[in-house]
Amino acid sequence: MLMAVVMVAVFSASVIVAADAPEKIVINEIQKSKPAVTLNHKAHADKIGKCQTCHHKNEAGKEQKCSECHKATKTGDAPEFKEAMHGKCKGCHSKEKKGPTKCDECHKK
Ligand code: HEC
Ligand code: HEC
Ligand code: HEC
Ligand code: HEC
Repeated sequence: MLMAVVMVAVFSASVIVAADAPEKIVINEIQKSKPAVTLNHKAHADKIGKCQTCHHKNEAGKEQKCSECHKATKTGDAPEFKEAMHGKCKGCHSKEKKGPTKCDECHKK
């Protein structure tokens, strides 16, 4: 009986998390000189396994857009949006030697 309760709790928690993560996101907050970038959000979340690897300031289940804090220019301690994106995205791709690091592989026309 106890086991069944625990399993239901674990199962429903994972369903809620999955439903909260958008499938695909077009990142276009700045859009001055480069084409928008499409992030396969759910595929990344599934592979990386931990939302907080990217959503570093948010508790599980309370993920916000990066642009809530990372603005077009540095705001307080938060680096500008472009730096946050390049740091996080390209940073992991070059570290793991997987995923795009060339400009037009992310900024697709
Ligand atoms: C590879 C990095 C990465 C991972 C891993 C990741 N996200 Fe995201 N997520 C993003 C980015 C980037 C955005 C869009 C940010 C922006 O446009 O400012 C976003 C946006 C979101 C949004 C939309 C917020 C809004 O207000 O529209 C939600 C909700 C979200 N993520 C939840 C999750 C959850 C839940 C997980 C884990 C299951 C997860 N994310 C894993 C990078 C990631
Ligand atoms: C609630 C505010 C907030 C949100 C939301 C947020 N950040 Fe940050 N971020 C900060 C602050 C403040 C810093 C400055 C360094 C620190 O305090 O950790 C920072 C630093 C960074 C840095 C540079 C230092 C480091 O930790 O590598 C990167 C890269 C970064 N953020 C990426 C992201 C991405 C990608 C997202 C969205 C998935 C995001 N941030 C969402 C506030 C935020
Ligand atoms: C913690 C590691 C990690 C982070 C952070 C990360 N990625 Fe990736 N990304 C990968 C890996 C690994 C692959 C290769 C996946 C494969 O080959 O199956 C990849 C592949 C991609 C691809 C090509 C394949 C596809 O899914 O479309 C794009 C585009 C991409 N990432 C964009 C982004 C963007 C934009 C961000 C930042 C918002 C980001 N990634 C953050 C690990 C990461
Ligand atoms: C891993 C994916 C990725 C790679 C590789 C990448 N970028 Fe970006 N870049 C982004 C994301 C995501 C944004 C935020 C897009 C937005 O908000 O419009 C961004 C924003 C920018 C911006 C500010 C937005 C604008 O339209 O002016 C410039 C400029 C830029 N990148 C130039 C480059 C250049 C030059 C390269 C190659 C040296 C490059 N990027 C490689 C993901 C990437």
